[in-house]
Parts: sequence; C-alpha cells; structure tokens
Amino acid sequence: MTIATPSEAVASPTAVSFPQDFLWGTATAAYQVEGAHEAAGRGPSIWDTFARTPGKVHAGHTGDVACDHYHRYREDIALMKRLNLKVYRFSVSWSRVMPDGRSVNPEGLAFYSELVDELLAAGIIPWLTQYHWDLPQALEDAGGWANRDTAYAFQAYAEVLHEALGEKVRHWTTLNEPWCSAFLGYANGHHAPGRTEPSAALAAAHHLLLGHGLAVSSLRARDPELELGLTLNFTDYRPADPSSAGDQDAARRLDGAFNRFFIEPVLRGSYPADVLADQQGLWPTDLVQPGDLEVISAPIDVLGVNFYTGELLTGAEPDQAPAAAAAARAQGQPNPNVGSEHVGSTRRGLPQTAMGWEVYPQALRDLLVRLHTEYTAEAGVALYVTENGAAYEDVVEPDGSVYDPQRLDYIRRHLHAVHEAIEQGADVRGYFVWSLLDNFEWAFGYSKRFGIIHVDYDTQVRTPKASAHWYAEVARSGVVN
Ligand code: NOJ
Repeated sequence: MTIATPSEAVASPTAVSFPQDFLWGTATAAYQVEGAHEAAGRGPSIWDTFARTPGKVHAGHTGDVACDHYHRYREDIALMKRLNLKVYRFSVSWSRVMPDGRSVNPEGLAFYSELVDELLAAGIIPWLTQYHWDLPQALEDAGGWANRDTAYAFQAYAEVLHEALGEKVRHWTTLNEPWCSAFLGYANGHHAPGRTEPSAALAAAHHLLLGHGLAVSSLRARDPELELGLTLNFTDYRPADPSSAGDQDAARRLDGAFNRFFIEPVLRGSYPADVLADQQGLWPTDLVQPGDLEVISAPIDVLGVNFYTGELLTGAEPDQAPAAAAAARAQGQPNPNVGSEHVGSTRRGLPQTAMGWEVYPQALRDLLVRLHTEYTAEAGVALYVTENGAAYEDVVEPDGSVYDPQRLDYIRRHLHAVHEAIEQGADVRGYFVWSLLDNFEWAFGYSKRFGIIHVDYDTQVRTPKASAHWYAEVARSGVVN
C-alpha cells in the first residue's frame, strides 16, 4: 500500500473538501465478481446461459469463477477497510438465494448474511442492490421481464431478502440500470437474455419498474425506516449542431428514451409523453394496467446515479424521423433505442477510456444539478453517485504494482464535478467508484478493467492500483486535490 502517485497526475489548482458525513464507497455486482456459479445450490441465471452461447461474450468468457469473491469476500472486505471505504455497494444473485426464482435456498441467503456481518464488523455500511441483471433462468423460460408475473416474483424476492437481512441492511436499491436490462437485454440483444424484440423490451421496462414499485411497497410496509431507492444510468445527450433541428430532436429523443423514460414514472407517476409518441405502435396493448403508475411512483428516499460519459447526437429532421426510425428497424440492425433507431452519435474529440467513452466530467455536474432541480428536490429524494469510474489498459509493473494515472485522473475530475454540483445546491450524499475490483465486464468479458484493485485472474491475487491508494486518502480526509 505504498505506491507513490506522481504529482502531475493529481495536480489541480485547488483542493476541495466534501461534507464530513459524505459516504465514500465502491461498487460491484454479483455476476461480475462472485464466481462460484454452482456453489451451495445456486441456480443458473440468464447470464450463465448467455455467456455460454457462442459469440455473445468476448472470447467465450463466463462469470463461473470471476474474482471468486464468493470465497474471498473476507480478504476483499479487509482490503476495503485498509482503503478507508465507508460503504460497499454489492448486489445479490437472485438465483443463488432462489435458484428457480421462486423457492428459497437458505444456503444462498447465508452467504449474504455472512458477507453483511463481515462488512459490519469492519465498520463498512452494506448497500444492497436487489437486481443487477442476473434473472434466474427459470423466470426467463417463463417469459422473463416481458412477463408481468416476473414483477410479482421480484416483490416476493424482496420480501425473502428483507426477512433474512432487514435487521442488518438499511440501504436498499431495487434495480440497477433497468435501461440495460430492458433494452440491451430485449431490444438489441447485446446483453442476456439476448432477445431482439422491441415490444418485449418495452414490456420488460414496464415490468422492471412495476417490480421496483412493488418491492418498495413491501419493504416500506415492513420497515418505514429503510432507505429505499433505485439506480438509473444517465448519459448527457446534446445535439452535435445546436442549430440543427434534426440534431436537437435526436438529443431530445435519447434523453427521453434513456434518461427520462425511467425517472419520470418513478418520481412523477407518468411516462414522458414525447417518448410515448416516439414509441407509438410499439407498446403492447394492455401493458400498462390501471394502478401500475401509482405502484411505480411509490415514494423513495434515494436516487442512485450511474454516470460515465456524454454524447453528441445527430438525427433526421423531425418530420422525417418516424420514417427514418421505421427504415432503420426494417434494415434489421437491432438497436436499443426503440422508436429512435435512426439517431446517430459523433465525437467531441476528447480523450476516451478503453470502452471508447469520452471523458466529460462537467456533464456529471450538470446532470446532478438538473436531477436535483427538476426531479429530486421536490420529492425529498437524496442523490448518490452509485457508479462512476473508467476502464483503461493497465500495465502490471515487474514488481507487481499497477500505476493507473488515467483512472485516477478520471475519478479526481469527476469528484471535482460532484463537488461543484453540491456547491450549486444538489443534495449529493455519496460517491461509489465502479469498481472495487477488476471484474467480468458483461459482453466484454474480462477484457476491460474498471477496478481500483487489480485482479490477476490466474492467481486471484489482488493488488490495489495507484488510484486505490489515492482514493483511500480521499476517503480518509474527505479532501480531493
Ligand atoms: C454499469 C453497470 O451497472 C456495471 O455493471 C458495469 O460494469 C459498468 N456500468 C461499466 O460498464
């Protein structure tokens, strides 16, 4: 833990201090880190199936072993403690605790109970995400998220988790990035379950939100003091040419389909009208049943914000947009943006991470201020950055250390953006780096490393990178230089 960080990587004109009770943390997700895919009665999830389908995941990688966090969580928690982290955001594998999605596996629950006990003993707050994309395969076989029953199964799952962990876990996130579950999973098929059915994607999105609302009602009824919420992913979309009506419309569409589609039903009780118009004819009839939006908009306490980048968009002139979308659909190139398939994106020419995402921190500041002003302040909802971080091609030095100035700088600049948002009034109470460990990056397998701790997948040796040492000091002092 003694890697020196050259000053140029962290040089900044002014150091900023965060509030004393600001929560510094890191995040992971079950399928990405746990491994142990057959341990103690765990059932298969859609990601086990998808990763085994040839051509779906880079180099045929799977989460079978991943970081073996299931067996090494004590070591990982000890590392978190050494890094002064206050919170650990993790997710539960539904098929570990309910192998077929419906019946309980006490051994699976015991794992999370032990994990939480170990965190509490280390003085680290457990922040539980109920669903981070790994639906039990048995539920997918019955229609998956496109089937309304899955929302009720999700509610029952919330109750099972609360029964086992409710006394010990105070922070509950129902869903992580439902946009990805619905639109990458069911519209363009880049994620499990790999379906390419635009209408099923809309059904999935609605049922995910319904499941969220049902789970919130159950958890709230069981314990009014819990901190409840969901995590959404937001991207900053701007017109490539602000004077082009087509580009402006493209930015409106994706801001709608990606950002507003989820936050508005949750915080305002309705889907955005312009998005519904863009998606006209694609919504299954009778999908939204009377009372659904009341369930979905059950009050929450926390909005989790996952942020990585911003994009510049290009589009057809608004009056030609529906035809252009239909033509793009007819070409059969699956696209996640249901109803806006024709929208294109272009680059600002900024440095990019290994994911090809441009580094654009000021968009995080603007996003947090916008969320606060337009949505969360009025609803009395606190903001947490539940994910932010970057993949880079790390090099392990001969002495085993990993010097990652680009990741460090990415996090540092985004923390400055968060600080500015707080100064501008946004009620942001915590920041969790994605990710604690290098891990299984979905369709990219192990080819992309987001961790502040390096994982050698042959030996499972963990090595904190320079960014981890730097972040440990931030978490200790609350100061970002
Ligand atoms: C968002 C997801 O929640 C997480 O699972 C993923 O690894 C990161 N973004 C990076 O792509």
